[in-house]
Amino acid sequence: MDPLTAEIQALKKSKKATILAHYYQEGEIQDLADFSGDSLALARAATKVDTPIIVFCGVHFMAETAKILNPEKTVLLPDLKAGCSLADSCPADKLARYQEMLRINGRKFQTVTYINSTAAVKALSDWVVTSGNAEEIVRRVPEDHEILFVPDRHLGHYLQEITGRKMIFWDGACMVHEIFSVGDLIAMKKKMPGSIVLAHPECPANVLEHSDFIGGTEAMIRHVGKFSEPKDFLVATEPNMMWQLQKRHPQHRYHGVPGITCACNKCPHMARNTLEKLRDCLISENPRVEWEPCFDQAGEVLRRSLLN
Ligand code: 13P
Repeated sequence: MDPLTAEIQALKKSKKATILAHYYQEGEIQDLADFSGDSLALARAATKVDTPIIVFCGVHFMAETAKILNPEKTVLLPDLKAGCSLADSCPADKLARYQEMLRINGRKFQTVTYINSTAAVKALSDWVVTSGNAEEIVRRVPEDHEILFVPDRHLGHYLQEITGRKMIFWDGACMVHEIFSVGDLIAMKKKMPGSIVLAHPECPANVLEHSDFIGGTEAMIRHVGKFSEPKDFLVATEPNMMWQLQKRHPQHRYHGVPGITCACNKCPHMARNTLEKLRDCLISENPRVEWEPCFDQAGEVLRRSLLN
């Protein structure tokens, strides 16, 4: 074991900390984590942690969600600047004004918000969804209500298609999933006949229409596990996902679908967390997510949506 990994493990023990990691973290971080998962499993796992400190290796909204669901715990994020383009696309004041405009116009709606959003936006919502439970929650919205879906327009369009529910969309998109190259994907499929395309529902429709399976990160793992014969999987999501797929189902070959601007679609926010920053945050117990007044209301929405 390298000295840095050993140091982190010793600190984790002495500080009584639990490390949670998203599947988009580097493999070396996922390897060190007590639990790796998708957004839904991580939010649920955070409520089961029995140590006083949670180190969240993911992006800010994930650590914030863990704090909201566990007010008494210290929640550390190795780099506080690990943000999310989707969360940035939907400022709470802008959403509040838009909701008000819809109400003034007599629209009867509920707001369904993707978890990739700030706590202030969650507090303005009726429901919070992840890729893992979105379809189920959308079906819970009373039929006589329209759905204002924020902030991911691609996920919203996909949900509208599979549920038939009428939606009003926010104009947000994930910077990672928005820029897969459809041309390269088609060329890869031609080069590898029999390959299977996995796409995250944050991808635009022109990528989804060339996919064999659409689902969040946990659903991808479950789907791949159904194939016992070795297959080629073309993966349209953050490339670190392939580390977890390789670990869980090593009989297959995984190929990342390239982006239009670079060789891969690595999330620059997820990549802010490093082993060094993980060690440093354990030593200083900082940076941490501080409690904010809107967390009370956001917590009600999160508990109703993710824990029931
Ligand atoms: P899931 O892991 O829930 O599929 O979400 C991916 C994601 O968008 C993380 O920001």
